[in-house]
Amino acid sequence: MRKKIIAGNWKMNGQTSSINTLLDELKELTPNTENSINIIFPPAIYLQQVKEALSATSFKWGGQNTYPQDKGAYTGEISTVMLRDMGCQYVLVGHSERRHIFAENEKIIAEKFHHVKEHGMIPIVCIGETLEQREQGQTESILKSQLLSLVEADSRCFNNSVIAYEPVWAIGTGKTAYPEQIGEVHQYIRNLVASVNKEDAESTAIIYGGSVTEKNASALLASADIDGVLVGGASLNAQQFVEIITCIN
Ligand code: PGA
Repeated sequence: MRKKIIAGNWKMNGQTSSINTLLDELKELTPNTENSINIIFPPAIYLQQVKEALSATSFKWGGQNTYPQDKGAYTGEISTVMLRDMGCQYVLVGHSERRHIFAENEKIIAEKFHHVKEHGMIPIVCIGETLEQREQGQTESILKSQLLSLVEADSRCFNNSVIAYEPVWAIGTGKTAYPEQIGEVHQYIRNLVASVNKEDAESTAIIYGGSVTEKNASALLASADIDGVLVGGASLNAQQFVEIITCIN
């Protein structure tokens, strides 16, 4: 059985002292976790702090974004190589905030995705439809285009990668999709991955994100179709995040 993934995306939140407190609380409250892989995505400038605090724990950490060049004249960017240097094992790619606020298109997202893989880390690629697209019955075609744009360069691209289904209308809104609704979409995604490569369909983790809290996590994680959760707001509160981890441990 695939281990469930519990990922906390801190987005652009926290400062040295609040992050220290959060890390101390996470260390103190988190039980032994045999059934989950727990990952924190801090703002990149605090990765060193997170690395120092969590390296003796079972927590893993990752980058919220990357730039698909090893180094060079890319003012303001952080490269995949630098993330690896900070001990990151995972990198979020194509989060809806990157797609919508920063206008990232499928081409740059695919470049980031492959760059992360080439450097031996695991991309968590975020895909999802807007409310308007869902209401117009376009959910499947949107997800298909977001996923297949990754395949062009490599038909084994889903091997050693994670897909996060995050309906845009559920992110930060308090509106979570129902487990059945998510299960249906996850089955669609898994079939799509199978159509690209049968073997990868079995091993690829498909997780859900969008207003996941300690209140709805156990119902979501109980579903065999949901391999984990990507948590935004609730991951900034150690007690709530640990409750989510504890649901399955
Ligand atoms: P949320 O964010 O849990 O605050 O809705 C999820 C995400 O953006 O990954």
